[in-house]
Amino acid sequence: MEMKNKSAGIRVQLNQAEKMRKYLSEKKLLRNDLKISKNNAFIFFPVKEIPNELNPYNFVKKEFEKKVIKPKSYKEIGLIPEKLKHELPTSYDVIGDIILIKLPNNLLKYQKEIGKSLLKSNKNIRTVCSIKPVTGEFRTRNITVIAGESRTTTTHKEYGLKLNVNIKNTYFSPRLAAERKRVAELVKPGEIIVDLFTGVAPFSIMIAKYADPKIIYAIDKNKEAVLFAKQNIKKNNVLNKIEVINADAKEIHDILEKKADRIIMNLPFSAHLFFTYALKIAKTHTIIHYYDILKENKIEDKTDKLKKIAEENRYVLTNLDVRKIKTYAPREFYIRIDITAKKMPM
Ligand SMILES: C[S@@+](CC[C@H](N)C(=O)[O-])C[C@H]1O[C@@H](n2cnc3c(N)ncnc32)[C@H](O)[C@@H]1O
Repeated sequence: MEMKNKSAGIRVQLNQAEKMRKYLSEKKLLRNDLKISKNNAFIFFPVKEIPNELNPYNFVKKEFEKKVIKPKSYKEIGLIPEKLKHELPTSYDVIGDIILIKLPNNLLKYQKEIGKSLLKSNKNIRTVCSIKPVTGEFRTRNITVIAGESRTTTTHKEYGLKLNVNIKNTYFSPRLAAERKRVAELVKPGEIIVDLFTGVAPFSIMIAKYADPKIIYAIDKNKEAVLFAKQNIKKNNVLNKIEVINADAKEIHDILEKKADRIIMNLPFSAHLFFTYALKIAKTHTIIHYYDILKENKIEDKTDKLKKIAEENRYVLTNLDVRKIKTYAPREFYIRIDITAKKMPM
């Protein structure tokens, strides 16, 4: 897009700038789409037309930089009562061309209006959905399309990956993109990796694209997620690096013949229930990327619990590196813990 525009302008010395600016604004002659510019001696005002009463010596024709005009926020568009506007969420997720927004109960009766406003203020969006928190074993959500095309499938792009998702019956969070990239950058050539709760396989595909593992086993119990994972692996040309398995993570040690150098456990709230099973497929030295949603004061309890489970399985956990990735609720965080699990000598 052209960032400059030739326009008529008025040139004045710097010490005259404020007086001229006031004069031009009062006369409504200033161009709002172009930026005022200056050099060491002069300031240049882009104008719609040259007023007759000014000294022609000050007239110029020059390139002015275009102003970046921010699109209106969705809060400014639409017919939501003024007194409720402060309750409109300031953020929402965007997955592909779908917006997912969590609305407070007293705004639900305006959800269609809110959806339309979001469509108007976001050019690349085709569908707006109102969502409830993720629930159940497969971490899926109750979703209502409130504006735009009536569909829940889309293609999301992150770091050059293209991921097909059905936001209704598979889990996907766009907010973990940087975390997935971080993990991919830690992977060493030739590693065997197990992605225990793969969903539509974003971790596995990111690793296959940006690292050089020997093989990644991508496991999920949700049949629908596995279908999308398979599609996505093909779509991103990493068929030779990832094997998708539709199974319960608790049974994976019976299915896999190989042991893992690295295990990804992205199942907040419940991952600890699978820690024993993860250790069953660990080598004598394995890295585990463990994800959870925890209140700040519960983090230590959780790491103690994991250490205890490890001990029962003759492993010791070292280098526990705990980081908050994002806020989940007030004082509650999406946490990642990088763990090194080492087998105790016999
Ligand atoms: C929070 S999602 C994570 C998905 C994916 N890793 C991502 O980052 O988008 C957790 C996934 O674990 C799967 N899951 C839940 N219980 C499982 C189990 N017992 N065995 C295997 N997968 C399971 C769910 O179906 C869901 O896809």
